[in-house]
Amino acid sequence: MKLDNPFLTTGYDGPETFCDREKETAELISAIENGRNVTLIAPRRYGKTGLIRNMLALLPERYDKVYLDVYATENISDFVKTFAGSVVSALETKREKLVSTLGQFFSSLRPTMSPQSDGTVKLSFDLAQSAAKSSIESTFSFLKSRQRPVVIAIDEFQQVRKYPEPNTEALLRSYMQFAPNVRFVFAGSQLHLMSGMFVSPRGAFYNSTDIMSLDVIELNKYRAFAKKFFAAEGMSFSRKAFDDLYERFDGITWYVQSVLNRIWQNGRGFKGAKDVDAAVKSLVDNRNLVFFDLFRSQSEASRRLLRAVASDGVVNAPTSKAFLYGHSLGAASTVASVLDNLVDRELLYRSDKGYVVYDKLFALWLKRLGE
Ligand SMILES: Nc1ncnc2c1ncn2[C@@H]1O[C@H](COP(=O)(O)OP(=O)(O)O)[C@@H](O)[C@H]1O
Ligand SMILES: [Mg+2]
Repeated sequence: MKLDNPFLTTGYDGPETFCDREKETAELISAIENGRNVTLIAPRRYGKTGLIRNMLALLPERYDKVYLDVYATENISDFVKTFAGSVVSALETKREKLVSTLGQFFSSLRPTMSPQSDGTVKLSFDLAQSAAKSSIESTFSFLKSRQRPVVIAIDEFQQVRKYPEPNTEALLRSYMQFAPNVRFVFAGSQLHLMSGMFVSPRGAFYNSTDIMSLDVIELNKYRAFAKKFFAAEGMSFSRKAFDDLYERFDGITWYVQSVLNRIWQNGRGFKGAKDVDAAVKSLVDNRNLVFFDLFRSQSEASRRLLRAVASDGVVNAPTSKAFLYGHSLGAASTVASVLDNLVDRELLYRSDKGYVVYDKLFALWLKRLGE
């Protein structure tokens, strides 16, 4: 009988469908067992979330586990809701007590401006700040009171840097250091934001965590992993085509998984390059509307630059005459600021080789425009 598709493109389903990451998982667990927090940094789609899930699944029983993703949070109140909410739902006991504290917190968020008896007006900002503080405080005292070791993994942590309240990090850090039974794993994809918090001496979390950067899965390990599933079904598996697929997407997990997922879906095995081409085409076609919309919503200058980068593949001198003239991009200063903006919005990515379109499927779609 054919297995369910073993090539997941979302979530985590246990070690069976999870490729390698043995060393990284062991490193994370070892840091935790030795009382250290860890910061995990890698670009999107490399497999940070998967690694965290795998680590939590394999962590010794004596640890309680909390996972939260703060990607969608926009301010300290969102953060506190997600943080406290995840702690509560992961660690059911004493729920009522914490929920009532949270209730007070949420109700305190409603007023926008409240006149004070002395004639001044108190802004909701302050209210939210102090309520957030007391809510974080009660979450931490709850965690401490349980005395059990807890691992809290906070995914997409760079988001915290974008909050309007500048002291969220300091606040969190101050409670963190007095909760000896709580270990943290922070994961994030925006290097400069993560560095600002964890690596820079001025960052609130400076020196408080190990820094771990995640590379892509090794070719040999990935190939063996993929082959195993096809072989188990008696289906063919082209080593050459797999290696080519891996190279086309720089070994980045999400793309490799997504292509393999489609090839598996056909049920005819992995015979050669044609299978990869068809899968990639279908992935890009599938996103046509989304990419079209994304592209259309950009400024004229951004569109040009995106197309130029997609067409060259990698650009290491974006303000050089050759690049500017070659793609009719206009003044270097304009291009430099458009570039920064596109990097900020994660449409372009600055790799060690140069600038690339962050989403490789979007890059392929942009290239099609020029054909
Ligand atoms: N080691 C792995 N083996 C197989 N699939 C993985 C592995 N790591 C991640 N994935 C899959 O790849 C996709 C992208 O990984 P994810 O962990 O979400 O990346 P990130 O969090 O770095 O953006 C997910 O769909 C996940 O299921
Ligand atoms: Mg992730």
